[in-house]
Amino acid sequence: MILETQNLLIRKFKKTDDAALLEAMECPEVHLMYSNGFTSIDKVREYIQLLLQEYQEGKLRTLAIAEKSTNKLIGSITLDVLEIFARAEISYWINKNYRNRGYATEAVRAIIGHCFDALSLNRIQAPTFNPASERVLIKTGMICEGTLRQYFKVGDKSLDVKVYAILKEEYDPVK
Ligand SMILES: CC(C)(COP(=O)(O)OP(=O)(O)OC[C@H]1O[C@@H](n2cnc3c(N)ncnc32)[C@H](O)[C@@H]1OP(=O)(O)O)[C@@H](O)C(=O)NCCC(=O)NCCS
Repeated sequence: MILETQNLLIRKFKKTDDAALLEAMECPEVHLMYSNGFTSIDKVREYIQLLLQEYQEGKLRTLAIAEKSTNKLIGSITLDVLEIFARAEISYWINKNYRNRGYATEAVRAIIGHCFDALSLNRIQAPTFNPASERVLIKTGMICEGTLRQYFKVGDKSLDVKVYAILKEEYDPVK
């Protein structure tokens, strides 16, 4: 386990997360984040195996968001750190059956704190292209810095995204 919040555990993926990960793919938006590739439990298991391999190599890039009361996987958060510039980019999703309970906000807030306090980073950024995700970023104290043109290629479409960011000097751990 890496981080604990009021309602969540942000922890490494486990082999037993396979069914919950496949369940989350019922949301097309989430499935698209995996290039629509998780069409069977075997594909999901292969992916979890890759993550376990990364953990063994000391890489903690993609973590599970689990509901604390059940330890069920209900989301995921990925942290791409560029150490040389002391910054990271985050992306995340929450299973559609668990949305609008503040879980993404809780997870992003915890990751921001971890980045500034434990990893000594200076800047966290998040590109986004949907209103719910923008709300999450605003609620965690991030500021919209502008639009990155055709930043994401999703299927055969290139999408403009808004980029939100927070600097260490702006971070208030109490909020
Ligand atoms: C974006 C996402 C992670 C939010 O998860 P969540 O756990 O529901 O987020 P929270 O409950 O913390 O906050 C959601 C906020 O968005 C708002 N919201 C939800 N749907 C919305 C919509 N269609 N338009 C505007 N705001 C919306 C909610 O009202 C809430 O804001 P509030 O607290 O001010 O009322 C989830 O919708 C998701 O997984 N989407 C698909 C993947 C994705 O887009 N990931 C982000 C890209 S990096």
